Amino acid sequence: MVIREANRQDLFSIAKVQVDSNRSTYIGIMPERYLEGLTYESKVNEWDKRLFDNKRTEFMFVAETDNKNIVGFASASLDETNDIYERELYSIYILKEFQRIGIGKLLIKAIVERYIEEGVRSLILWTLQDNPSRFFYEHLGGSIVDKRIINRGGKELQQIAYAWEDITSMFKVKLR
Ligand SMILES: CC(C)(COP(=O)(O)OP(=O)(O)OC[C@H]1O[C@@H](n2cnc3c(N)ncnc32)[C@H](O)[C@@H]1OP(=O)(O)O)[C@@H](O)C(=O)NCCC(=O)NCCS
Repeated sequence: MVIREANRQDLFSIAKVQVDSNRSTYIGIMPERYLEGLTYESKVNEWDKRLFDNKRTEFMFVAETDNKNIVGFASASLDETNDIYERELYSIYILKEFQRIGIGKLLIKAIVERYIEEGVRSLILWTLQDNPSRFFYEHLGGSIVDKRIINRGGKELQQIAYAWEDITSMFKVKLR
């Protein structure tokens, strides 16, 4: 498995991972109609803007198999939701059949190492309270710091924020 920064040629694979992973993760949580309505095309456009626009503050790492298939990704950006934390882990999605084999940890580690090198120390992320994946963040030492309600397809959903005040503690990364 290779972890590398995303480029524009990856956009369709990224969109496919997101839509397929959203559908397997949020079934029973988000309305079925909403999940069925997600399209690869709209995600390609969304990620093209988020990652490759001139003013971009977001970056992404992808996880690629030896056969050059992208099976997961994680992105991070300036935190626009909360004044206290410097950066936000904006998204992390791995295809169902590739979950729980260490890829999530590798992707987060790549982001955290980049930020530590840049002098960033604090990180926040938002996740659905009903998503069992949130225990992954607890496993990495995140603490619940905030709550909000979002709407997906007409259904109100509770989100919670996990944060790390000092990301150097997450993987015991050695500072140079
Ligand atoms: C959540 C997610 C990114 C985690 O990545 P992953 O590759 O499956 O997790 P890893 O295999 O790297 O696990 C790392 C550690 O976290 C633990 N862990 C992972 N998922 C967990 C979970 N749901 N509950 C509890 N612990 C979990 C693992 O046991 C592992 O422990 P270890 O360090 O002792 O070996 C991935 O499962 C995923 O994409 N889920 C569906 C999409 C999703 O919900 N994304 C997040 C949206 S906010």
